[in-house]
Amino acid sequence: MTENRPHFATRLGVIATTVGSAVGLGNIWRFPYEAGTHGGGAFLMIYILCIAVIGIPVICAEFVMGRASRRNIFGAFRTLAPKGGRYWQLMGVAGIVGSIMILAFYSVVAGWTIEYLMQSLAGTLEEVASTERQAAFDSFTGGWRCVLWTLVILGLNCAIVLGGVRKGIERVSNLLMPLLFVLLITLALNSLLLPGAGEGLKFLFRPDFSTVDSSVVLGALGQAFFSLSLGLGTMMIYASYFSPSTPLLKSAATTAGLDTLVALIAGVIIFPAVFTFGAEPSAGPKLVFEVLPDIFHRMPGGVVWSTVFFLLLLLASLTSTISMSEISVAYFSEQWGISRRKAVAVNTAIALVLGTLCALSFGPLSDFTICGKTVFGLFDYVASNIIMPLGGMLISIFVGWVLRRSVFDMELSPAPRALLCCLAFCLRFIAPGAIAVIFIAYI
Ligand code: PHE
Repeated sequence: MTENRPHFATRLGVIATTVGSAVGLGNIWRFPYEAGTHGGGAFLMIYILCIAVIGIPVICAEFVMGRASRRNIFGAFRTLAPKGGRYWQLMGVAGIVGSIMILAFYSVVAGWTIEYLMQSLAGTLEEVASTERQAAFDSFTGGWRCVLWTLVILGLNCAIVLGGVRKGIERVSNLLMPLLFVLLITLALNSLLLPGAGEGLKFLFRPDFSTVDSSVVLGALGQAFFSLSLGLGTMMIYASYFSPSTPLLKSAATTAGLDTLVALIAGVIIFPAVFTFGAEPSAGPKLVFEVLPDIFHRMPGGVVWSTVFFLLLLLASLTSTISMSEISVAYFSEQWGISRRKAVAVNTAIALVLGTLCALSFGPLSDFTICGKTVFGLFDYVASNIIMPLGGMLISIFVGWVLRRSVFDMELSPAPRALLCCLAFCLRFIAPGAIAVIFIAYI
């Protein structure tokens, strides 16, 4: 099973798929609304700090575990831990549960992009007056189309994952990411010309630490993990498809760098518009979907821009959903010994049920709350702010303390020695320590 495991064909394929997993709704939808609810500049600073001292070391740790074991997260702990790692395997279970939870709520938001794409194609998106946008959004998310699009996303996701690693994932990603990047830069330049640009940029880049509390720090940490697809084994499973010559450190740095850049550009697109069109930065998950139509509305040829934008956003979300699915699909097929086809079916079936519940959270189930959160909100919170950071903490402890140092050094070579020591130090002390402190402060 391990020997004839498929490989990504090219270096570009490696970067495109890891960046494809990382870049998605997390950067363009979740980052602006998290930054908006947590006060802007200070959140951004803490977020960047989390990426640098926790995110990059944890990506390297996942890469090392994935390529050294050539297995899914569950099998990786089992192969690499001394004595079969009985307890470490539980970490694998958390990764699988977390990834399915994310797939469920993420598909709902990806479904929103289908709706916006359709409305854009029909020319109705820009027709809605600014003041009625909120009502239009609420009526759509509360209705049956929201559920339908969620199911469509899960169907598309299932079809791509069935295409197999090289054919499906790599081809889609290679084609897409550069195009999305160019479009985002154009939109950012456009936003810089809006009258509220100064205020928007001030909000995003001028930190006000007086408003920072532990929930802001936990939010930034969760966002860093969500955006980099960390702590569940996504980067681990992708690294298990890397060829032995892929330089891990360089790939980790490129992935983190590009991902952060896209989030920043999304911020530069959204916040000038928020202040120009009088939206509330703390509007929550609907923020981006309410502001974007206003941006397109003011642009010459707005229909074309919005159509291309939502199409690319949809595709970017799919390159992320396929990476979440890969975690459990690889697990079901490798650990249970069932065919990939059946594994995809199991994954899709669970996600269909949970995804429907998440979609209904904006309509019929909006009053059904657990700890004050709807199913959608709860899945997002538990997976992003709890399972992912805790997973990241355990992965760093495992690679820092349990994994043989020679394996670590060999996988990360040809990185300079000093850099390796620095990384190992981050994984042993800084990442687990910082995550623990943030949790304790929060509780
Ligand atoms: N990183 C992805 C995004 O920002 C989301 C994701 C989370 C993907 C977890 C895989 C695993 O959109």
